[in-house]
Amino acid sequence: MANVAVIGAQWGDEGKGKVVDWLASRADVVVRFQGGHNAGHTLVVGNQTYKLSLLPSGLVNNKLGIIGNGVVVDPEALLAEIERVRSQGLTITPESLRIAENAVLILPLHPALDRARESARGEHKIGTTGRGIGPAYEDKVARRAIRIADLAEPETLSAKLDELLLHYNTLLAGLGVATFSKDVLLARLLELAPQILPYAEPVWERLDTLRRAGKRILFEGAQAVMLDVDHGTYPFVTSSNTVAATAAAGSGMGPAAVGFVLGIAKAYTTRVGSGPFPTELHDATGRLLGERGHEFGTVTGRPRRCGWFDAALVRQAVKVGGIQGLALTKLDVLDGLPELKICTGYRIRGEHFRHLPAAPGAQAAAEPEYETMEGWSDSTHGARSWADLPAQAIKYVRRIEELVEAPVTLLSTSPEREDTILVKDPFEG
Ligand code: IMP
Repeated sequence: MANVAVIGAQWGDEGKGKVVDWLASRADVVVRFQGGHNAGHTLVVGNQTYKLSLLPSGLVNNKLGIIGNGVVVDPEALLAEIERVRSQGLTITPESLRIAENAVLILPLHPALDRARESARGEHKIGTTGRGIGPAYEDKVARRAIRIADLAEPETLSAKLDELLLHYNTLLAGLGVATFSKDVLLARLLELAPQILPYAEPVWERLDTLRRAGKRILFEGAQAVMLDVDHGTYPFVTSSNTVAATAAAGSGMGPAAVGFVLGIAKAYTTRVGSGPFPTELHDATGRLLGERGHEFGTVTGRPRRCGWFDAALVRQAVKVGGIQGLALTKLDVLDGLPELKICTGYRIRGEHFRHLPAAPGAQAAAEPEYETMEGWSDSTHGARSWADLPAQAIKYVRRIEELVEAPVTLLSTSPEREDTILVKDPFEG
């Protein structure tokens, strides 16, 4: 029985929440392995809508949730989210949620620097979520981060805060922003410690035990391959590796543990934040996709940029992300459009490209090369079998499979958990 890793195949917001929730009902444990509370997963279960940022989606299914070492954890955001979902009736306890003791913490100085740098960038801003994700990962690599386990050692906290504040207060002062006081930060961390530490442990040990007991592990990716810090549209990316290979390093398991890699892609494309987006539509069709698809960021509420399905981009994500099967979401948003376009490659300064090159100038200059397909007038909304789909919709899906060089193993036709067409069970490997 395989484990499954779910990752986004575009620029995020592909509807991972629903797919992960659906798969979580058949898993024993759900693991977050990268990102932080920049992620936003919306889960609609019956008449309840859960908006999760940091908590693994499996908690909604009463499954064990694990936050791996690759995640950056804002303790204030974590506790607030736990409170919020508790008020919706979920039970979150140190029995149902475990957090890697070696995960990095996000402190208030991280969002402060994130925002100050974004405003200093002006029109060149990355369009971050402003949650401090980038600075927290920078600290991890710079070996000055405060980690969950440090909360148990006041003297470690004190020494690390000295080093952090030397760095941050210098930068913040230079950017003309309020600096932080060590006493205030230390006092707050010591207050948070007893609330966070009961969840902390070496999760790699628990995961190893679960794996050897044959339990099904679901790795829940956040963001998406085109936001990967190496493989995405750098520098307009997030600060972690979002590809499936990270599931291993970000949870403390070997690469063989990751199992089947399911990529999630919308039947069209969206992006929040700045950066290249070759198939972006600035016309009525783009606005229609945005309205019908309710394309507003879960975390920031920003309207998402919308455009045609970019098969060249998803093909690239399939290759670098290790995607073995695709879950295609929001097909119903395309219902009634007379014709559809699929991008198959790019023309850049007169030359044909089958992929998006790494240089930012080339990415910005990329003109999509389109293939046009006839649309369908019947509704696909809520379809639960191929027989429920119009022939043209099936053709569209088949063409996507050919172009991205991966099979569609799952099709989602509404936000509801049950409105899903399963072609192949990812847990069957
Ligand atoms: P950061 O992760 O806050 O540093 O933001 C970096 C880039 O990633 C920005 O373009 C964000 O809009 C984007 N981003 C971060 N998290 C998500 C997400 O969950 N969905 C979509 N875009 C995201």
